Amino acid sequence: MRIIDIIEKKRDGKELTREELETLILGYVRDQVPDYQIAAFLMAVVFRGMTDRETATLTDIMMHSGDTVDLSALPGVKVDKHSTGGVGDTTTLIVAPLVAACGGTVAKMSGRGLGHTGGTLDKLESIPGVNIEQPLDRFMDIVRRIGLAVIGQSGNLVPADKKLYALRDVTATIGSTPLIASSIMSKKLAAGADAIVLDVKVGSGAFMHTVEDAKELASLMVRIGDHLGRRCEAIITDMNQPLGLAVGNALEVQEAVDVLAGRVGEEEPLVQVSLLLGAHMLMLSDLAATEAEGKDMLLHALRTGAGLEKLRQMIEAMGGDPAYIDPERIRELCRVKKLVEVYPERDGYLAGLVAEKIGIASQLLGAGRAKKGDAIDPAVGLVMHRRVGDRLSVREPFCTLYVNDDRHLDEAVDLLHQSMTISAEQPASAPLVYAIVKE
Ligand code: URA
Ligand code: CA
Repeated sequence: MRIIDIIEKKRDGKELTREELETLILGYVRDQVPDYQIAAFLMAVVFRGMTDRETATLTDIMMHSGDTVDLSALPGVKVDKHSTGGVGDTTTLIVAPLVAACGGTVAKMSGRGLGHTGGTLDKLESIPGVNIEQPLDRFMDIVRRIGLAVIGQSGNLVPADKKLYALRDVTATIGSTPLIASSIMSKKLAAGADAIVLDVKVGSGAFMHTVEDAKELASLMVRIGDHLGRRCEAIITDMNQPLGLAVGNALEVQEAVDVLAGRVGEEEPLVQVSLLLGAHMLMLSDLAATEAEGKDMLLHALRTGAGLEKLRQMIEAMGGDPAYIDPERIRELCRVKKLVEVYPERDGYLAGLVAEKIGIASQLLGAGRAKKGDAIDPAVGLVMHRRVGDRLSVREPFCTLYVNDDRHLDEAVDLLHQSMTISAEQPASAPLVYAIVKE
């Protein structure tokens, strides 16, 4: 089979067979097919798309291009959640412990932050002692004992995605729904969960900028999951502003601890999205019959402190100091050289925010990386004091920056100002959840 014939077939909009896709993808992983041919193929996919069957087959081939995790030795339904990436989105650290406290089994592999988005692994590592690189048998042992563990992805999971993603990044071929769906789902499926709840973000801080596009991606990922024998659902949530108030690493852990300690109002967006994700995780785990029942179970775990205790147990099992999982002690990890208050330029209403700019501001202070491998400062970042729709006064700060290194401070402050739209009238309130996608 000649590579050029396969590229030509996709260029002409035809459906590729499993054998043809394997020839391309596995050949690429083995360095037998050069970058330029795969780049041409990817661009053909951007213009021609893929059928559902083709996307599922591509996902399956990618998923099996390296190691896969077998969680079958663990009892019950193993459930995972995945967010397509956002700012101030610390739901994993809230939902995973709450679901475990309700009897769920959460065996999760997470990622690091890149660019303006945060990553759960970086947040966990802000707690002294935590080791996110646990061997697989130890990971399984922790899950068996306490019902949850969140670790880094092992070395050889989905090598096809590592190569393809790096190539897509430099050939303007990231923005294709079948390519994004196969990239995300191949990693989720390789990590072994039976059930997956996807949080597909839409808005200025997300990959998908329209609800329409987010629904299409969500539906495709759910169908791929179904096709490959997993239970999958997606919720589509707003990322036009940070989900929580904190943006940073220890600062986001602090916010998660505050939520689990009952210090954050249950009506807050971060809590609402966490409860919704958790309720669907419990439903897919056969532990709750309805969303309302799931939310009740989670609220009970929150109000009794059972969720906070689960997070403490997980941190201890991963080598961390559990004493920090306390709403007072956690604040020690957010100590910085100086706090800088940022004030609005005029009075009015906060009519809009650009989450991406807020994420970049936090990254510039040292909370995120500009490129892979950069060091991060766990204590720095920012805390928002206003949400879209709130009144602003020039006398009241809308944000506090946590600063250790002020080299990029002015730039960060500028970005925060740029991220805001101030209007004289109160804006109409925007939805937090746009849709739930089950197929
Ligand atoms: N996240 C991924 O893992 N892959 C994509 O293609 C896009 C977002
Ligand atoms: Ca389904």
